[in-house]
Amino acid sequence: MTALAPEPITRTADLAAELRALLKPATVLRRDEPLAKRTTLRVGGPAEIYVEPADESELATVLRFCRDHEVPFFLLGRGSNLLIRNGGIRGVVIHLGAPAFSDIKVEGEQLRCGAGTRLKDIALTAKRHGLGGLEFLEGIPGNLGGALHMNAGAMNAWTFEAVETLRFMDYTGVAHDRPARDVPTTYRSCPLLKSAVALGAVLKGCSTPREQIEAKLAECQKKRWTSQPKEPSAGCIFKNTKTVPAGKLVDELGLKGTRVGDAVVSGVHGNFIINVGKATARDVLALIEIIRTTAREQRGIQLEIEVEIVGED
Ligand code: EPU
Repeated sequence: MTALAPEPITRTADLAAELRALLKPATVLRRDEPLAKRTTLRVGGPAEIYVEPADESELATVLRFCRDHEVPFFLLGRGSNLLIRNGGIRGVVIHLGAPAFSDIKVEGEQLRCGAGTRLKDIALTAKRHGLGGLEFLEGIPGNLGGALHMNAGAMNAWTFEAVETLRFMDYTGVAHDRPARDVPTTYRSCPLLKSAVALGAVLKGCSTPREQIEAKLAECQKKRWTSQPKEPSAGCIFKNTKTVPAGKLVDELGLKGTRVGDAVVSGVHGNFIINVGKATARDVLALIEIIRTTAREQRGIQLEIEVEIVGED
């Protein structure tokens, strides 16, 4: 891993100390925190300042601090759709990993879930309570905050199809609850959450016989295990195009198995780049460029990147 490029150490130390002094002891704050292990692709440099707020009021304090000191911040979910460059992330990296953000409360046919909840846990809790309609979440390897942020999807279903109410915090630290019908979304995007932090959501299930839910869950699992690679990856690299799924296109272009360093185009699914050892962000980015150039030159298709790319080179 490459260390952050020189930034006056005293500035980082001063900022970290000043922020620490504003926070409760239950809030985690660390400097130069390695992030590769916090991403499913397992690449990327450290966070200059890493914070796990203990609760919403602590998160509000962090957001206000960043605003007042003009410090950039980045919300890190489960790191499943993320490519962090080797130089790491400047400013504050916020992770909603505290128990206050990972709660699931079942209320009738609704599930009130925190942004830090794993999607798999939501799907399994729904099953335990005989609630169907959320099975597709089982196959998305992230937490709810990330899935809301990018309106993640699987099995032809999208996160926001299951959302009744979105809870989010604006960058001044004020929390809001908004009915999902008032939150515009598109394929793989929720524009509102580009300038606000997802705190959680009320999801809607539907009373369903247990066997039916189990059959659907098994279908989702089977699809994933048979059509997606098991090695570390960031999920699908590109958005599907209007004319052809990106994975199919990469396959047709004969690019499966193409390798740069330890980054390889999966032989199982063309829209996945896997890390077969010590891949770096540069390897992955170089591979992405090869795929995009080939798609443009051979098929006239401009592939759009789905994975979020952040950090310093
Ligand atoms: N295909 C190929 N070769 C490949 C890959 C796919 O021919 O190497 C073909 C498949 O046979 C199928 C079509 O392309 O006919 C679509 O493939 P698939 O059913 O695997 O779905 P996808 O569109 O590639 C989407 C999501 C996945 C999600 C799956 C499962 C996007 C970009 N991807 O994949 O989401 O898990 O459906 O429902 O929308 C992600 O977002 O990170 C992700 C992996």
